[in-house]
Amino acid sequence: MFENKKVLTGVKPTGTPHLGNYLGAIKPAITLGKQALAAGGKHYMFIADYHAINAEKDPDILREKLKEIACIYLAGGLDPSQSVFYRQSDIAEIPEITTILYAYTPKGFMNKAHAYKAAVDKNRAAGKPDDDGINMGLYTYPTLMAADILAYDTDIVPVGKDQVQHVEIARDIAGIINAHYNRPLLTLPEYSIDDNVAVVPGIDGRKMSKSYGNVIPLFEDDKAIKKAIFSIKTDSRPPEEPKNPDEILVYEIYKAVATPEQLREMGDGLCEGKLGYGQIKNMLLDAVVNEIREKRETYRYYMTHYDEVEGMLEDGAAKARPVARATLKRLKDAVFGR
Ligand code: ADP
Ligand code: TRP
Repeated sequence: MFENKKVLTGVKPTGTPHLGNYLGAIKPAITLGKQALAAGGKHYMFIADYHAINAEKDPDILREKLKEIACIYLAGGLDPSQSVFYRQSDIAEIPEITTILYAYTPKGFMNKAHAYKAAVDKNRAAGKPDDDGINMGLYTYPTLMAADILAYDTDIVPVGKDQVQHVEIARDIAGIINAHYNRPLLTLPEYSIDDNVAVVPGIDGRKMSKSYGNVIPLFEDDKAIKKAIFSIKTDSRPPEEPKNPDEILVYEIYKAVATPEQLREMGDGLCEGKLGYGQIKNMLLDAVVNEIREKRETYRYYMTHYDEVEGMLEDGAAKARPVARATLKRLKDAVFGR
């Protein structure tokens, strides 16, 4: 699938990542990047800090979130000597490319973009004017994202379902430009959705999400993780009562971290009435801690040696910039007839 392909992943530095983010987005992105590299392709991995400023205006928070996300990717095994790892805001060519794309982007594309529509719907539900609190950054979000993608001749963009439309918009904009100049100036990107990545439920049974406050923390100490796991919703049935594992929330969360043998052991134990809720919560805790123990050490190392990370991001930008610059030149030459 990835033979000689350029794969690009972007992540917004918003919110402290939780176990659901890690298992559902961060870990799969690192794995896909490694697969692309192993297949002779390229992997670009960047932190979308320009996208973050639409919603967050506090520089201290922006700096801390960026730091956390950079350290989490490194802790999760991203290898910056193999993947091109950089900050969006270090590549001045991206806003320049965005400006050119605007001239070819139908306004209707922005009107129908999910992020904007969701913000309008929220305003309507609250009885506020449609565009209340909506800035131009949010409105034109998909054009900046298109520049992120098109700048590097990206073939494949791994995304969650919510980002599919944005990649389609990037592809459509590239198609419009190529058709106008009657040559393949821009590579048409495709999205890829990993069907094996499941949505991890939170401790109340809804999707684990920072906005629901139902998360299992990622790199906090064992005590904090234990506290979250022991507050997972259960009922009052006694341990000896046989239970259908698929109705048990702890088991659903366990699916995201357990090996097939571990999962079978918990499933059988529940069916046979041999495991109580306290026991299965301890099994989940062990599996979670086992998954993150080493990564947490690496995370803490990078958080306290952030100058090293800063250096890696600068090296990454130095690798990314010439590629974006070449795309910008190609565009300017075509657009201005140079
Ligand atoms: P949150 O819902 O906590 O605000 P975001 O919307 O910021 O999380 O999601 C960031 C990334 O993490 C997205 O790619 C999203 O698909 C993924 N993600 C978020 N929550 C989960 C979850 N519970 N299970 C799997 N993946 C998730
Ligand atoms: N919009 C993405 C998100 O909210 C982040 C992002 C910005 C991105 N630019 C991108 C993702 C380019 C992939 C490619 O998660």
